[in-house]
Amino acid sequence: MSESAKLVLGGETIELPIIVGTENEKAIDIRALRGQTGFITYDPGYKNTGATESAITFLDGEKGILRYRGYSIEELCENASFLEVAYLILEGELPNKEQYAAFEKEITYHTLIHEDVKHVFDAFPNGAHPMGQLQIILSMMAGFYPDSLNPHRSKEDVKRTIVRLIAKMPTMVAMIQKKNNGHPLVYPKNELGYVENFLRMTFGQVTEDYEIDPVFVKAMNKLLILHADHEQNCSASTVRLVGSSNANLYASISAGVAALWGPLHGGANQKVLEMLEAIKEDGGDTDKWLAKAKDKNDPFRLMGFGHRVYKNFDPRALIIKQSADEILDKLGIEDPVLEIAKKLEEKALKDPYFADRKLFPNVDFYSGIIYRAMGFPVEMFTVLFALGRLPGWISQWKEMRETKQPIGRPRQVYTGKNARDFVAMNKR
Ligand code: ACO
Repeated sequence: MSESAKLVLGGETIELPIIVGTENEKAIDIRALRGQTGFITYDPGYKNTGATESAITFLDGEKGILRYRGYSIEELCENASFLEVAYLILEGELPNKEQYAAFEKEITYHTLIHEDVKHVFDAFPNGAHPMGQLQIILSMMAGFYPDSLNPHRSKEDVKRTIVRLIAKMPTMVAMIQKKNNGHPLVYPKNELGYVENFLRMTFGQVTEDYEIDPVFVKAMNKLLILHADHEQNCSASTVRLVGSSNANLYASISAGVAALWGPLHGGANQKVLEMLEAIKEDGGDTDKWLAKAKDKNDPFRLMGFGHRVYKNFDPRALIIKQSADEILDKLGIEDPVLEIAKKLEEKALKDPYFADRKLFPNVDFYSGIIYRAMGFPVEMFTVLFALGRLPGWISQWKEMRETKQPIGRPRQVYTGKNARDFVAMNKR
């Protein structure tokens, strides 16, 4: 008989099955608990709740391990292209040459965005945040592709929607940056690779040829791979929750973008850079800012520090920190903000406040420094995170549908008033 857990409740012993994952992760299956006992489990923020079984991403927060479909992010970053990783995450296996060529061709074929999408930019005020713009454009896509509205359609139809989305996302992101700069749009050039095409559309000008810098391509590729998936985080769970109601893929991904925007999640990369700039402007006194972060009467938190699941180090942060050094070096940029970041990290790691709470730099701590060195405006940072995370969100949505997950609907413990009689307004 497989392992089970015993719960003693009101003198009665209830047996609950145990689920064991392929990496020996263990969960108590409490699905029958309410039916048998009337009890629910209580876990605000789902800190210790497994919402699903999943075969996409494995991470071990204690050991600092992150793997997509069994492959370590360290190896993928060194050896694979982002599109190859996107295929891996979506399909479960690395593509062979033919599979990759077919996938790349399909993606390339769908990079254009309907010309009418451009009109939506007229409605945004100057300087509207790129994440809000991305959310709107993504939701609009369902209007242009009504065949995506019903997620129960054939596998081929769903695949076409997925391909369209991956293909058009770099065009959308580049469009947002161009519009915010007031520059004319640069259309995709389909003989270029995914990352090269994106960089050209973002930084190239319609009036001249754009020389693609291999240093930029390598850095962008690495950053996108590092962000490609992160199992059941806030935005991926949002995508799953929205998708569980049979909402279409575009709407579900747009909801993921909304969740990512928050500064406690993907929005942290923008906030980190703003924080580092503020420390620089303030004279560079890192001790003063660390004291602010520790002060419980001050709402300030050290942005880019701490993580819900990584409690020793974030393996993505290690790779990014090294890349930041390499890229700035290769581009010949001396960024005082990188020095402040390093000083802040060094001091925080020695400080008992951060050590006791297991707070370490996360993926966002150094990524903004690289994005800025490449020339991206700070408001674009979280959009770049979304570009990388897209294959992960889609795979989470796809897995949720293929494994026929029920609609997501948590319970609550009600703490409001008991039933009472209505009192007419003139008697209140
Ligand atoms: N600066 C100062 N104190 C912090 C920080 C921080 N960055 N992060 C956590 N703490 C403290 C909390 O105040 C709390 O202290 P207490 O026990 O004395 O009350 C303790 O550490 C635990 O923090 P929680 O908020 O309970 O931890 P949780 O797992 O819920 O939050 C989170 C994780 C949201 C990432 C948090 O560490 C944080 O706000 N970090 C800054 C924002 C950030 O960088 N977000 C990006 C995360 S990575 C990503 O999403 C891509």
